[in-house]
Amino acid sequence: KILVLDFGSQTTQLIARRVREAKVYCEIHPYDMSIEAIRAFAPRGIILSGSPSSVHDHGAPVISPEVFDLGLPVLGICYGMQLATHLLGGTVEHSDHREYGPAALEIDEPGDLFRGLAPAPATHQVWMSHGDRIEALPPGFVRIARSGASPVAAMRHEARPIFGVQFHPEVVHTEIGRDLLRNFLFRVCGCSASWDMASFVETAVADIRRRVGGERVICALSGGVDSSVAALLIHRAIGRNLTCIFVNNGLLRKNEAETVLAFFEQSELDVRYVDASARFLERLSGVDDPEKKRKIIGTEFIRVFEEEARRLGDVRFLAQGTLYPDVIESVSFKGPSATIKSHHNVGGLPEVMRLELVEPLRELFKDEVREVGAQLGMPEELIHRHPFPGPGLAIRVLGAVTPERLAVLREADAIVLEEMKASGWYRRTWQAFAVLLPVRTVGVMGDERTYDHVVALRVVDSVDAMTADWTRLPYDLLARISNRIINEVRGVNRVCYDVSSKPPATIEWE
Ligand code: XMP
Repeated sequence: KILVLDFGSQTTQLIARRVREAKVYCEIHPYDMSIEAIRAFAPRGIILSGSPSSVHDHGAPVISPEVFDLGLPVLGICYGMQLATHLLGGTVEHSDHREYGPAALEIDEPGDLFRGLAPAPATHQVWMSHGDRIEALPPGFVRIARSGASPVAAMRHEARPIFGVQFHPEVVHTEIGRDLLRNFLFRVCGCSASWDMASFVETAVADIRRRVGGERVICALSGGVDSSVAALLIHRAIGRNLTCIFVNNGLLRKNEAETVLAFFEQSELDVRYVDASARFLERLSGVDDPEKKRKIIGTEFIRVFEEEARRLGDVRFLAQGTLYPDVIESVSFKGPSATIKSHHNVGGLPEVMRLELVEPLRELFKDEVREVGAQLGMPEELIHRHPFPGPGLAIRVLGAVTPERLAVLREADAIVLEEMKASGWYRRTWQAFAVLLPVRTVGVMGDERTYDHVVALRVVDSVDAMTADWTRLPYDLLARISNRIINEVRGVNRVCYDVSSKPPATIEWE
């Protein structure tokens, strides 16, 4: 396995993903991981990430130079290379030629790192993003590549397996990035390509059995990819000792409960279906503040879940579909951040119920979870579902939630999904949904004046929901969706397309 030390770069997670794509297991840890902890982790090699800092900044993130004396291969990327230079006796300077974006790399010496890549005069497109540059190599190092603005675009130690690259091999725009990382993993570190989802399933099943033994596990099943895959995996390990609880909060999409239940029924999972819609709707009655809605739904969910769990008797574990991005103690996002929206998930449950957590997907990225789902026989349609917020349609019916307004939104939303899927666009976007606005506008239908509701269409591209941009859907698809909604959904006479990016807008309207 490989250790990625994070200095706060935007692309640290990408490094980990590229390593895993090469079927080598890796973990991201903060740069200040202790030498003892690194030894205990026992990686085959270490990758130092980039950083928004400069090595000359006051308080810049630094590691102990001992990291280079562990006898392990090290690859410094961008700041990682500058830091290595700085710590090992070279010189890093602020450059007047800041280099952002594509650069032409010329390789002086293929060696292990660039094995298989054409040396100068051939050039390779790489992606740069730095202000500082290396002026003098540390003793014992040689330059192995250069670019226009970086006299030293890559370096290696003459005797030890320490390398540095100024560009970012982890981004797709660095065409040779994949080859370079594979060379580092397989040639330099001697890793083998053995991390795949079939072997993950095997190990995870054994781990769960060992941990849980003959005890009972419960799981809140939402029908989303993460909780579904977690449940299937645990089911494979302990069978009927897993009980899933699927709560219908009355805020689900059209046919949602039926579809999800139908699948799990044939998968032999023990699923308790709780129709609590009336309770939720009652508590939400007259509430129009988005945060209040979220709180009410979160609290009510915990209540319902607790009641059901008590009925089961002796339960010791709670299963959750937590993923790796939620677990990484990345330095990138540290610092005070405002609560923009209090995201409702089952976070409050373990404390309330004094349950121990089982989180079999803690090490995985989303695409890996999908692969595990496929391994476990989940149908394509479930595997590639868009994310759906816990508070459901309550935060898409703007203003107060009523059964009537929910019904209108459900119909409109179903049309959006149907058309997105039929046109092949569903799989190409992050989320696509309808929002029911709390305004009415004038229209004309037949010879009648109408005064009806407006539906907004929200379709976005994103990789992690942190940032997003509106999807450039073809006009004729937009036209079809709009026509169908206005013609088929009673009470709607206008459809708008949301063309705001996140930030400054958010994906959901509430
Ligand atoms: P925003 O609207 O903050 O949404 O840009 C980012 C992602 O999170 C989802 N979302 C939620 N998920 N509970 C959830 O479980 C919530 O309260 C919640 N609010 C937003 C949203 O659908 C998007 O994928």
